[in-house]
Amino acid sequence: MSALDPTAPVGVLGAGTMGAGIAQVAAAAGHPVLLFDVADGAAEAGRDGIAKALERVVAKGKMAAADRDGLLDRITPCQTFEDLKPALLVVEAVLEDLDVKQKVFTDLEKLLAPEAILATNTSSIAIAAIAAALDDPSRLVGMHFFNPAPLMALVEVVSGIGTASGVADIVFDTAANWGKSPVHAKSTPGFIVNRVARPFYAEALRLLEEGAADAATIDAMLTGGGGFRMGPFALMDLIGHDVNYAVTCSVFEAFYQDPRFLPSLVQKELVDGGLLGRKSGHGFFGYGKGADNPQAATALAGPKPRKVYVEGDLGPLAPLLARIEAAGIATSRTHADGPGGLALGGLLLMLTDGRTATQRAHDESLDNLVVFDLVLDYAKASHIALAAADQADAKAAAKAAGLFQALGFEVSVIDDAPGLIVMRTVAMLANIAASAVHTGVADAASVDIAMMKGVNYPQGPLAWADAAGPGVILTVLDNLAACYGDGRYRASPWLRRRAAAGKPLLDD
Ligand SMILES: NC(=O)c1ccc[n+]([C@@H]2O[C@H](COP(=O)([O-])OP(=O)(O)OC[C@H]3O[C@@H](n4cnc5c(N)ncnc54)[C@H](O)[C@@H]3O)[C@@H](O)[C@H]2O)c1
Repeated sequence: MSALDPTAPVGVLGAGTMGAGIAQVAAAAGHPVLLFDVADGAAEAGRDGIAKALERVVAKGKMAAADRDGLLDRITPCQTFEDLKPALLVVEAVLEDLDVKQKVFTDLEKLLAPEAILATNTSSIAIAAIAAALDDPSRLVGMHFFNPAPLMALVEVVSGIGTASGVADIVFDTAANWGKSPVHAKSTPGFIVNRVARPFYAEALRLLEEGAADAATIDAMLTGGGGFRMGPFALMDLIGHDVNYAVTCSVFEAFYQDPRFLPSLVQKELVDGGLLGRKSGHGFFGYGKGADNPQAATALAGPKPRKVYVEGDLGPLAPLLARIEAAGIATSRTHADGPGGLALGGLLLMLTDGRTATQRAHDESLDNLVVFDLVLDYAKASHIALAAADQADAKAAAKAAGLFQALGFEVSVIDDAPGLIVMRTVAMLANIAASAVHTGVADAASVDIAMMKGVNYPQGPLAWADAAGPGVILTVLDNLAACYGDGRYRASPWLRRRAAAGKPLLDD
């Protein structure tokens, strides 16, 4: 353990949203905190904001008033920049601008003791680019908190090319002492979370653009089926489309316009039109009084089948079998080779493999085919999407819906989109996660921790891919790649290799 001594003074530069939150976290861990902001009165306002937030925590009985007072006493708003001098760690949270950050760090380098650590909360600027202005770049490390800093557990400890590993280790251990879940990351565009999370928005936007389903339905599938806390459209509305679109554009440009990160015209239109989400009263959904938002489109009640034939290797679908039996539907198991499926009354239902139902029916001469989506847990999920092949008979979708409805699912019959909604999102999250592991940005376990602790994913994308089967995910990606042919779905070579070896992605 090489953490900063808990009584060591910590400086926080910038007392806005993030700086105030970071000051609160450090003070809660026992450090005396020196808080400085260039704007007159901003440091005091930052401390007042913390006091207000803690007042609510105390009122709820979650903190003793004496502890609150102690925490606030440890935060000193500084009158001058020079007051930061005693700090042994300074966390910078000023505006996201390279010139401004270089200037404050060159000033800090001159002011602080030589052993003091310089940390930046930048979300998008390369650590090496900031460090280039320093005499000793080894002292600078990224300490990337998530908003709101007191509540979000993740801290990405980001090393640039010159960062000393000992410095990153001290910041890592210090963040752990502060009750956070730190992960090490190499400085690359978007670090871990802002890179790996891109498909959560991008796949939803592409599905919307192609008319696969409306925003409310896509959100319902990713929450009720995928187990995500918020759907991508509600989340983009919350983050603000200006901010979310800017991050996407910056990651896209930083990766030399890799089609994996292509921004969406649908989102650009919202930004251009000033429909920024909650903060402007309107985004994909309306906010404020009288907002009348559409509900997810769910299928009318279909017939409950009496018997289902279960074919092949069910893989991740195995829990569905118990749910079918619990619904009082007779099952008959056939142990045919190949991917699993359910058959009822001349209809075949299969988990999407990244092809449209129409393409698969054509390829495999399966005229009456319905494909359905991946969900987080087939034993518990409340929503599922399905689509019938264009060749299927007119009642195919209603019959398939009837089965899932009998199991307690809300069913949405959507257009025949390749990979449907949850499967293609999870496959692409796992693919980007795999490419981050492959290129040494972070190890597999850290990537999963980052996505669970930084953006509250219900499961790490790599663990999720392991549960579905790396080979299943690879097939989905290859089929999506064949369908679109635009390079976006090209599988990570590392994912392909693990799948070929029959090894899980997390057992690294
Ligand atoms: N807001 C987020 O969700 C979030 C999350 C993670 C990281 N970040 C990063 O954290 C940093 C701060 O973001 P924020 O949202 O808190 O911004 P903010 O606008 O709320 O606060 C920035 C503060 O920095 C002060 N400031 C500007 N120049 C300064 C200087 N030279 N010296 C001292 N203070 C200065 C401003 O007066 C302001 O109070 C940015 O680099 C941002 O990218 C933001």
